[in-house]
Amino acid sequence: MTHARTPDHLTVVDHPLVQHKLTVMREAETSTASFRQLLREISLLLAYEVTRDLPLTSKRITTPLTEMDAPTLEGKKLALISILRAGNGLLDGVLELIPSARVGFVGLYRDEQTLQPVQYYFKVPADLPDRPVIAVDPMLATGNSSVAAVDLLKQAGATDIRFLCLLAAPEGVRRMKEAHPDVRIVTAAVDERLNEKGYILPGLGDAGDRMFGTK
Ligand code: URA
Repeated sequence: MTHARTPDHLTVVDHPLVQHKLTVMREAETSTASFRQLLREISLLLAYEVTRDLPLTSKRITTPLTEMDAPTLEGKKLALISILRAGNGLLDGVLELIPSARVGFVGLYRDEQTLQPVQYYFKVPADLPDRPVIAVDPMLATGNSSVAAVDLLKQAGATDIRFLCLLAAPEGVRRMKEAHPDVRIVTAAVDERLNEKGYILPGLGDAGDRMFGTK
């Protein structure tokens, strides 16, 4: 797969299929059903990239013809953490590719007075320190909630965290790098900027509304 591995903390997946699907998702007239289907498809391709550096070990197996030492993933199974609610759209596709992953959820809302993220739900696998963790949220916008979610995952003991999103704003990428330089971000695109309401421009609108048909 071609991909631009820009700086170490950021991977932009510039594969033609990813870019094509993202363009259709951005279009305002794309239906909820198509948006959801495309998100599922694109998340498989992004999942392929975000797991590229997982360590391998080998195990002795027997094929119908002979024995061999064959590569197998090292260590405990992955933990996928969905940042509610839009994270669930990415989660479904990633789980299709990694069905044995453990799954957790982080729920955050924005306090209208302080504009800071407030936790309302947190349920993650107990043995998080032993697992590679992939946090999923389609939009890395201001980075406030994503950084807060990673804070919580680290408080729960996670040490090996990747952040998977569909679209990022430069502001969010910067914020995550400052707060968590050890967390690699994998995304399909980094857009131009945020607007005054914190939406990514040109973006695709509200990812949750578009995938769930709300608003
Ligand atoms: N969340 C979204 O769903 N869209 C944006 O553009 C920014 C944050």
